[in-house]
Amino acid sequence: MFSEQLLNRLANAESVAILTGAGVSAESGVPTFRDPGGLWEQFRPEELANFDAFMRNPVLVSSWYAYRREIIRSVEPNPGHYAIAEMETLFDDFTLITQNVDNLHRRAGSIRVVELHGNIMRNYCLDCRREYKDMPDHDKDTAPRCTECGGLIRPDVVWFGELLPQDAVREAELATRRADVFFSVGTSAIVYPAAGLPHTAREHGAYVVEINPCDTDFTPYAHEVIRGPSGTVMPRLVETVKRMKNTA
Ligand code: OAD
Repeated sequence: MFSEQLLNRLANAESVAILTGAGVSAESGVPTFRDPGGLWEQFRPEELANFDAFMRNPVLVSSWYAYRREIIRSVEPNPGHYAIAEMETLFDDFTLITQNVDNLHRRAGSIRVVELHGNIMRNYCLDCRREYKDMPDHDKDTAPRCTECGGLIRPDVVWFGELLPQDAVREAELATRRADVFFSVGTSAIVYPAAGLPHTAREHGAYVVEINPCDTDFTPYAHEVIRGPSGTVMPRLVETVKRMKNTA
């Protein structure tokens, strides 16, 4: 399943980075965005995932996020998440960069997680910035409001048209440039700036591997493509790396 070249690169790697997308959580039962039946087929991003939409209809947008949080709370991390968490223990310099907002990497035990698009489990008041893990009680037909100042509470996620958290972007960029091996796992590699990271890794000398059951925009540029679900491929990769390190 893994080429000699990848195994050699991993054996000598000082720095490894992984970029993940919604596909990593698909086997947990969290819908992706662009696969058939994905979120953007059922819902229109322009009506839900931007600031103007929220201000126009905070009840609709808040209830959509409440629905997604409910799905996420009811699912568990899958073997792909656990394998990625274990990868972190196998390399001194390891960075997990995720576009996912579902918190499943942390729940699986990943410690250093660079969250490029925020985290759906965090919320904050638009007016006073107070943070909320759990939303204060509110009627179904009203939007959640801050218990301190009455401001609207929004999810701490990046909406279309918004800047990504700059610290996360910087950390992701640095880890990507440092990486000897870079994995792009479960992402359609369409949404920038995240989609630019595998290209940056390649330009800076990394061996870049895509793990995905389907072709993506990045496929033609990958040094190696492993076709398969992350819940199967990542645990095999970890076992292979562990064997390799034990016999070295
Ligand atoms: P997409 O829905 O665009 O892509 C999901 C990818 O996962 C596809 O390439 C699938 O082939 C792949 N996939 C499906 N099942 C898989 C599995 N079991 N194992 C591995 N891969 C699998 O999701 P993202 O690329 O994450 O942004 O989307 C990027 C961003 O677009 C999201 O973070 C979100 C969205 O708009 C914001 O909300 C800011």
